Amino acid sequence: MPARDLLAAVREYHDQTKHHVRRFARSPGYLDWATQPDPFRVFDGAARIDLIEPLRAAADARGSLDGRAWTGISYDELFVPAASPRVVPGLPAVAVFLRYSLGLSAWKQAGPSRWALRVNPSSGNLHPTEGYAVCGPGVAGEHPGVFHYAPDAHRLDERCVFASAAWGAAVAHLPPGTFLAALTSIHWREAWKYGERAFRYCQHDIGHAVAAMRMAAALIGWEFSLVPGWPSESLAALLGVDRSDDFAGAEQEEPACLAIVSPASSPGECGGSLRREDVGSGLVDAARAGVWTGRANRLSADRVQWDVIDAAAEASRQTRPAPRAVSAGHGQARASGTRSAASPLASAVLLGRRSAVALDGRSSIDLDRFAFMMRRLLPEACPPFDALSWEPRLHLVLFVHRVTGLDPGIYLLARTGDALANLQRALHADFVWTRPAGVPDDLPLFLLTHLDARQIARQLSCAQDIAADGFFSLGMLAEFDDALEAGGPSAYRRLFWEAGVIGHVLYLEAEAAGARGTGIGCFFDDGVHELLGITDHRLQSLYHFTVGIPVDDSRLTTHPGYAWE
Ligand SMILES: Cc1cc2nc3c(=O)[nH]c(=O)nc-3n(C[C@H](O)[C@H](O)[C@H](O)COP(=O)(O)O)c2cc1C
Repeated sequence: MPARDLLAAVREYHDQTKHHVRRFARSPGYLDWATQPDPFRVFDGAARIDLIEPLRAAADARGSLDGRAWTGISYDELFVPAASPRVVPGLPAVAVFLRYSLGLSAWKQAGPSRWALRVNPSSGNLHPTEGYAVCGPGVAGEHPGVFHYAPDAHRLDERCVFASAAWGAAVAHLPPGTFLAALTSIHWREAWKYGERAFRYCQHDIGHAVAAMRMAAALIGWEFSLVPGWPSESLAALLGVDRSDDFAGAEQEEPACLAIVSPASSPGECGGSLRREDVGSGLVDAARAGVWTGRANRLSADRVQWDVIDAAAEASRQTRPAPRAVSAGHGQARASGTRSAASPLASAVLLGRRSAVALDGRSSIDLDRFAFMMRRLLPEACPPFDALSWEPRLHLVLFVHRVTGLDPGIYLLARTGDALANLQRALHADFVWTRPAGVPDDLPLFLLTHLDARQIARQLSCAQDIAADGFFSLGMLAEFDDALEAGGPSAYRRLFWEAGVIGHVLYLEAEAAGARGTGIGCFFDDGVHELLGITDHRLQSLYHFTVGIPVDDSRLTTHPGYAWE
């Protein structure tokens, strides 16, 4: 299909899957328990590689290269470049990386029902995202290989072994010990509940998983960067998700992204030293010629075909190498400094991240802390934004309810200086665009209008109380037209990935502040646009979020993610 038609298809999907007050995007409308998808994929017949012992070995290896144990790193230190890797290359590093990015964080129980939560969040806890590692020789076996991550068991399933020479050639320019991480989406898991809007949620989830992986790499003092150039077809071949015999009768996996995870580090400097050029595509031929084992399990007894999702996936695939990345992150590393001696343990924040199901509707946050949170959302050359290889395109419209020192109202955080003039032109002419008193000069936060925004925020987020009962909630406004024009149809996915990364920082910042966040995928798209005076597609709201003090559901009991931990 010509590029113009693909762009049109992506735009059509976007408009078709908007929620309107009187017409939600199409979905089954009920939960069909008989076809509920299994949240855990396994590859029957694949060799299994335990990650529990390697994780323990990594925890015991306290004298890390820079003298700091990763287990003792504070949350704030995740944003400061490590002097050197805190875990040496090998399977223990892979085990820590996966445990703190895609592993289980808890089991919840209500009566006879039990369900797992993960380090990475997911809309409806449906977890469409699957994780893979591609490792060099000597890491998880004698030969290089492609491995699927099984989070329920903290285990790798060996899908493919391939020739060592190909690995050496593909990563020759990268530091020794580098491995690759990759993500795919099983759309059906999400579509089972959410219908046609599910493709969007799968992309949010990829963004969250990317951020979770970046933070896990930061925990061990490693670098992490998405590889911008890989066409979807090549990634499918490398991961073996295009091997129809291995997926016969099983739900397909859509390739999403490939990342370099590297023990390189750049002391004292944000932005990293990784060169992001393509990982050699020779790897694809080597994997094709490799020895494959394992068959994907079937997740549901039956499934509904959502053609609009297949069409959106096809239209937004990366078909040719993406334009070269501009830089690793943007601007100065203003947010990198440590905030206070009271920063909690990084590992506790990463595993403790949870969504609030209800907020208390009265607690407030002080302006300094709020401003610090907002700074962490700027696309600077520090984790997790240094993982992204594209021009930042998202800005925040904030519904401020309870921030001590800041009047309630609607505010805007312009995440890039370049975008400010366009934002001012695209939004209501009545907005005042004043800089609130008490906000640091280098935080690009603007008051748009004073008002009690609680009802508006609740109403626009599908009447969900959490949007009104926190300190603040927000919508993420994407430079939609410009991003698609410059980046092509695959930029549609990347806009949601960026939204997921921002949401993930909010989750972690909330947790570190003793509060809690929740991603909000259900909102009335054009209702938000109308409120802001947006009449075209220059700006589109892609994801909402709320932060406040949680009210826990006392009917639920919580158990550890892994009994052996
Ligand atoms: C993209 C996305 C959209 C979400 N949308 C909503 C929402 O509209 N309302 C809500 O209460 N929770 C929402 N959530 C929160 C999920 O339900 C939550 O992440 C999931 O149940 C897993 O729980 P956990 O985050 O505590 O691990 C969303 C999460 C994500 C990642």
